[in-house]
Amino acid sequence: MSKLPYVGTTIFTVMSKLAMEHNAINLSQGFPNFPVDEKLISALESVARESVHQYAPMPGSPDLLNGISALIETAYGRKNDPTSELLVTAGATQAIFATIQALVNPQEEVIILDPSYDCYEPPIILTGAKPVRIPLSDDFTPNWQRIEDAMNDKTRLLIINNPHNPSGKVLDKSDLEQLAALLGKYPKVILLSDEVYEFITFEKKHISVNTIESLRERSVIVSSFGKTFHITGWKIGYLIAPAALINEIKKVQSSELSTSKSAMTFGN
Ligand SMILES: Cc1ncc(COP(=O)(O)O)c(C=O)c1O
Repeated sequence: MSKLPYVGTTIFTVMSKLAMEHNAINLSQGFPNFPVDEKLISALESVARESVHQYAPMPGSPDLLNGISALIETAYGRKNDPTSELLVTAGATQAIFATIQALVNPQEEVIILDPSYDCYEPPIILTGAKPVRIPLSDDFTPNWQRIEDAMNDKTRLLIINNPHNPSGKVLDKSDLEQLAALLGKYPKVILLSDEVYEFITFEKKHISVNTIESLRERSVIVSSFGKTFHITGWKIGYLIAPAALINEIKKVQSSELSTSKSAMTFGN
């Protein structure tokens, strides 16, 4: 019996195939089609000649973690500990999968705001939890009252996506304040903030959960180098979260991406 009976061909696959068939511009999938920076290509070329082709440490190589930590401080003024509050992942999708597997228990509920990225639901179902889908308003703003009405003592995770795919909607400060006020009433609920399009905004700057103290203490924030550097095929991303949450997510990630620190256990 299928564990995911409702997961078929994704809408991305259907739309990308149609776009190819009709030679149309493909707006259905998040392929940022800006050129890749020459500096990145040359860095890749020269690093490829070095001895870097074996397993990296599971949380990410220290240089990369330090670089990400500096980026988060420059972009959002958030100081963070690269060894305990950051995790390099195989793209944002794997970060989301590992987060849900690590933090959500069977029978618990996860709120998804629709329309939404279709990789949110399968890990919820695989973990034996229940996805609770709530439509965004007509202008793609979250309907905080409807979200609150759906919350109860089984709610474990709320997923937001800001900037939003597919609408491009960027949340206002007042939205994030309402979110903080709402979550203040539900101490057990964790926020999964999918911010993969954080650096691709045009008319309005995105406000990261990284900048809101009361939210970041209870959030897993997901980023994607694939989107930021227009290299979606590289499948590399990262997440930032409080150390206690990262610890749990690492336990799942080490089984997903067996690497040097986790490839072998010696009897215990
Ligand atoms: C909202 C959203 N989150 C996450 C992802 C996946 O990011 P990655 O390619 O880093 O796994 C996408 C890709 O389309 C997306 O649109």
